[in-house]
Amino acid sequence: MLKDLISQYIEEIRSTRIEEFKDKAAEVEQFRVKFLGRKGVMNELFEQFKALPNDQKKEMGIALNELKNAALARVEEFKNYVEEKMDAEEHHDLTLPADLAGRGSRHVLSVTMNEIAEIFARIGFTVEESVEIEDDWHLFSALNFPPDHPARDMQDTFFVEKEEGKQEVALRTHTSSVQVRVMETHKPPIRIIAPGRVFRNEAISARAHCIFHQVEALYVDKHVTFADLKQTLLYFAKEMFGEQTQIRLRPSYFPFTEPSAEMDISCNICGGKGCNICKGTGWLEILGCGMVDPNVLEACGIDSKEYSGFALGMGVERMAMLKYQIRDLRLYFENDLRFLHQFDNII
Ligand code: DAH
Repeated sequence: MLKDLISQYIEEIRSTRIEEFKDKAAEVEQFRVKFLGRKGVMNELFEQFKALPNDQKKEMGIALNELKNAALARVEEFKNYVEEKMDAEEHHDLTLPADLAGRGSRHVLSVTMNEIAEIFARIGFTVEESVEIEDDWHLFSALNFPPDHPARDMQDTFFVEKEEGKQEVALRTHTSSVQVRVMETHKPPIRIIAPGRVFRNEAISARAHCIFHQVEALYVDKHVTFADLKQTLLYFAKEMFGEQTQIRLRPSYFPFTEPSAEMDISCNICGGKGCNICKGTGWLEILGCGMVDPNVLEACGIDSKEYSGFALGMGVERMAMLKYQIRDLRLYFENDLRFLHQFDNII
């Protein structure tokens, strides 16, 4: 029966929900074609309508009109819906608050170097930086290295050029070279630190790397004594590792200092009782130091009868390892975010 068909279709039109369409625009068009297209429901029913006896035409005409209007209204409604949705997707709302961007943080080595620099800045040391590719004079000769010192060997040092009769050029093996450059160009009093990257021909392991960082300190003036060095070291150790920290100096040897010493601090993990970090000794070795050898002063054009000085040098990786209990040197250079993010809050 035509009447039943019409009410079935009207019901279908009313109960169709655009929210259930997957590809909305395409399915709206299919819906329109199904009811209003040339071979669609409307035209098909109209054919049937034409064949009806005249006395039924009035009632069926009204019903067909109702169906047509329902289909037209629904298509209109669906099209508006699709348009609005596309509008919302294409035109982002610029008044919305922005997403928070992830905040970067400093690398733990930069943080540690800055901290060392700040501690020395408070007692009048300024920062000097210099080249990473150095010549033999600044790296070794002016620093009183004997000609047969192992540091001059290819096994320990990365040479950039090694030509017959020419000055050797190498990646600097220590920041002590900056001492020489500063003394050559500045008159005492000199009070500087030299932070920077150094390079050594080492196999990479948890305890050694071919690239690392040092901070060198140099103080040259009239009447500088070992007592000045010792007090500076004690001040540094307490600022860096805490007020309770004690220091101990052991005699040592470096070509550029005489006398030379190595400084230990009381173990900041066990407080000096002995643990596996300090290997049961209660002490941790942290830097080398000494009085600048008169030969070095003279090589740099400073009168060693008038002036004296002290110098010290430390490894930044080691400082950070002791301060933050990092067990493996390689972690510094791998850029694993899980490692780096642990230091987000230390500034
Ligand atoms: N240059 C030394 C090194 O690389 C560290 C050092 C030791 C520097 C004693 C100094 C010093 O200034 O006095 O191992």
